[in-house]
Amino acid sequence: MTGIRTVRVELGERSYEVLVGAGARHELAALVPATAQRAAVVTQPGIPLEIDPGIPFEVFEIGTGEDHKHLGTIEALCRSFARIGLTRHDLVIGLGGGMVTDVAGFAASTWHRGVPVVHVATTLLGMVDAAIGGKTGVNLPSVNGLGGKNLVGTFWQPSGVICDLDALATLPPREVRCGRGEMAKYHFLTGDDLLAMDESTRIARCVEIKATVVADDEREAAGKPAGRALLNYGHTLAHALEIETAFALAHGEAVAIGLVYAAHLAHVLGRIDGDRVQHHYAVVGGAYELGTSLPAHLDPQRLLASMARDKKAVSGLTFVLDGPRGVEVVAEVPQAAATEALQVMAGRS
Ligand SMILES: NC(=O)c1ccc[n+]([C@@H]2O[C@H](COP(=O)([O-])OP(=O)(O)OC[C@H]3O[C@@H](n4cnc5c(N)ncnc54)[C@H](O)[C@@H]3O)[C@@H](O)[C@H]2O)c1
Repeated sequence: MTGIRTVRVELGERSYEVLVGAGARHELAALVPATAQRAAVVTQPGIPLEIDPGIPFEVFEIGTGEDHKHLGTIEALCRSFARIGLTRHDLVIGLGGGMVTDVAGFAASTWHRGVPVVHVATTLLGMVDAAIGGKTGVNLPSVNGLGGKNLVGTFWQPSGVICDLDALATLPPREVRCGRGEMAKYHFLTGDDLLAMDESTRIARCVEIKATVVADDEREAAGKPAGRALLNYGHTLAHALEIETAFALAHGEAVAIGLVYAAHLAHVLGRIDGDRVQHHYAVVGGAYELGTSLPAHLDPQRLLASMARDKKAVSGLTFVLDGPRGVEVVAEVPQAAATEALQVMAGRS
């Protein structure tokens, strides 16, 4: 296993390993539970990675894009599992980006009331975020203008995760940007100098940070200011931007802008100094070459209203913000401060 790092997600009897490195897919058989006699591989057309779990397997393709991330896809998969006689001791393998692992994980969690799943993440976002931590889910159609994203789902930890860095070679530039948007947030969650690391070490470190957060707060317990909610750093404005641009901005691109906005807001509230704001620009815009400007045509009042409706909001306008104690959840942020941060940011563009 030269060059492959192992990160353990410590969750008692649900603990598992994440293997990170070029060629990690060749270690897949080692993650297959001993009871499994066959596997159902859930993937999408065009995912370029070939895998061999070391047991007989059948491949089931789902559609590409969020439009296919719905309950009908789960039903179709479960019908396929029935057709091949997949038992609860067999295995589901999710081979793809976050969409595939969310869907494969959901199907696995409900098939026969739960069958083991192993994820082989093939996007940067999947590697540093979606494949780890056990959140699965599908979308519902939007209700009352509110997004229906990931509204139906389960917590179902995988038995293991593979992050084969070879997969990144074929990733389209926009998907790379989306992964970088999520990766950028990890730069502010710990004191690590992630910029000083080579890419493979940095990805493994992001996996480690996510593993630590998940181990501490597996199910996003209510009122835990430094738990899993921290992974939403930059996401309050990001969700509003996605909605207000009708998803013209992809999630990771919106998170990039959201991170810089969160820094401005923390500065307006006196939580961080100007150098720390600059550091956000250096990571997001500098190192990751992501856009950091607010789209010009958006109405600040609509953005504020949208942020106030964020499904993660606990009380009033709620943000994850940097500060003297590090990044934490801050509720009841005054509207005037949120507006001022938008204005300061717009003024820099
Ligand atoms: N469960 C979680 O904790 C969690 C966290 C973050 C995001 N998510 C979910 O993840 C999803 C987004 O995931 P994503 O950004 O990986 O997008 P994605 O899974 O939709 O993949 C993006 C595109 O890249 C293609 N692709 C995947 N791997 C490739 C490769 N190696 N080479 C070329 N093309 C490849 C896919 O087929 C798809 O067309 C969303 O549905 C989001 O809700 C889940």
